Amino acid sequence: MLPEIDRILIDRERISQRVHEMGEQLAKDLSEAVRTDGHDPLAHPDRVVMVPILTGAMVFAADLIRAMPMKLSLRLVTVSSYPGQSTESKGAAMRSALPADLADRHVVLIDDILDTGSTLKLVSDLVAEQSPASIRCCVLLDKPDRRQHDIRCDYNGFSIPDEFVVGYGLDYDGFYRNLPDIVALRPDAFRAG
Ligand code: IMP
Ligand code: MG
Repeated sequence: MLPEIDRILIDRERISQRVHEMGEQLAKDLSEAVRTDGHDPLAHPDRVVMVPILTGAMVFAADLIRAMPMKLSLRLVTVSSYPGQSTESKGAAMRSALPADLADRHVVLIDDILDTGSTLKLVSDLVAEQSPASIRCCVLLDKPDRRQHDIRCDYNGFSIPDEFVVGYGLDYDGFYRNLPDIVALRPDAFRAG
């Protein structure tokens, strides 16, 4: 274990079990939505679009989509809100173009963590402008005490207290995304900023 790690909050087995549950639930709900539209969910690859919000959602999304036994496609967006050595959001900003082909599709926004809500608010408002058939939000972690924007999150893996966590895609200053567990860092791992 890296010396900067204080303790494990959610270990890899719990993450894996929950991500599989979420994937199965999403696949069930999306298949139902596609059927309600009058299509066969196994035959229509262009009805469901998963949109991971990079970079944090990379690891979660990679596991989640493999737990969804259905036809779907992927579009990536990059948003940043915690520049450099910061643990306080500086407001979300788009760092890539939004895919332009979301009209009339079922869109699922995937993020690692729902904190103040500014990231999901920014992306979901932009997606809504394209008139998709539906927009769902799916996050692995939720810090409900920190919310500043009114965001309805349909799929939430774990609610956690207001503590900065890393691992399983989440970073501090660009590091620790590769850790397989969700962990808290020791206070001396944080630099001023
Ligand atoms: P929001 O825009 O304030 O909801 O923040 C969401 C983004 O902030 C997430 O996509 C994460 O990248 C980042 N974030 C929020 N809390 C944490 C944390 O505890 N550790 C690492 N990144 C975090
Ligand atoms: Mg981040």
